[in-house]
Amino acid sequence: MKKILVINGSPLKQGNTAKILANMMKGISESCEACFHEHNLEEINFEGCNECMDCRDTFACSLDDDMSEILDELIEADYLIFGTPIFMWQITGQAKCFIDRLYPVISNDFETRLANIATITVYTQANPDKNAFINYIKHNNDVLDFLGLNVIDTLIVGGLSEQNPAENHMYALEKAYHMGKKLIQ
Ligand SMILES: Cc1cc2nc3c(=O)[nH]c(=O)nc-3n(C[C@H](O)[C@H](O)[C@H](O)COP(=O)(O)O)c2cc1C
Repeated sequence: MKKILVINGSPLKQGNTAKILANMMKGISESCEACFHEHNLEEINFEGCNECMDCRDTFACSLDDDMSEILDELIEADYLIFGTPIFMWQITGQAKCFIDRLYPVISNDFETRLANIATITVYTQANPDKNAFINYIKHNNDVLDFLGLNVIDTLIVGGLSEQNPAENHMYALEKAYHMGKKLIQ
C-alpha cells in the first residue's frame, strides 16, 4: 500500500485548499489502495525552528511537538502532497514554519536524507491570473526539490475566495482528481 503524506498550510480546515486536496485524494484512492496521513497545519501543535542544530549530524529534532510524528511519516512516505493558499504573494506562515522544520531532512553536507519523495504542490489564490506568483511558486518548488521532495507536478488554482469558493471551480476540481489518479499509475 502506498503511503501518502498530505499537508494543508491553510488556516481553514474546509477552505479552498482543503477542497482541492480532497479531490486529489479521491483520485488517488479510486485507482489504488493508499494510506493517507493528512495534516492541517493549523490544527497541529508545532512551532518554528529554534536553530539548536541537533539535526546537523543526525536525523533528529530537539523540539518535542507534533512535528516529530510528521517527520517520521515523511521518512516513510512514498509521496507528499503539499497544499497552501497564497497569502501576501507567498505561502502561509504555517507552511513556511513547516518547511523550516524540515531542516532535519538535510545533512551537514546539504544532501537530502530522504529517498527522493515524489511530490505534488497545490497553490490556491484569489488572483485569477495563474502566472501572477509563478516565479515565487517555482522558487518554493525548488526549495522542496532541494530537500529531496521531488516536485513532479503543480496545480495552481486562481480566482478563489470566500465568495467564489473552490466548489464553483469544476475544472480545477476535475484537474485535481485526475492528477491524483495519474500520480500512482
Ligand atoms: C491574509 C490573506 C492574504 C492573502 N493574500 C493573497 C495574495 O497575495 N494573492 C492572492 O491571489 N490571494 C490572496 N489571498 C486569497 C487566498 O489565497 C485564497 O482565497 C485562497 O484560496 C484561500 O485558501 P483557503 O480557503 O484554503 O484558506 C489572501 C487571503 C488572506 C486571508
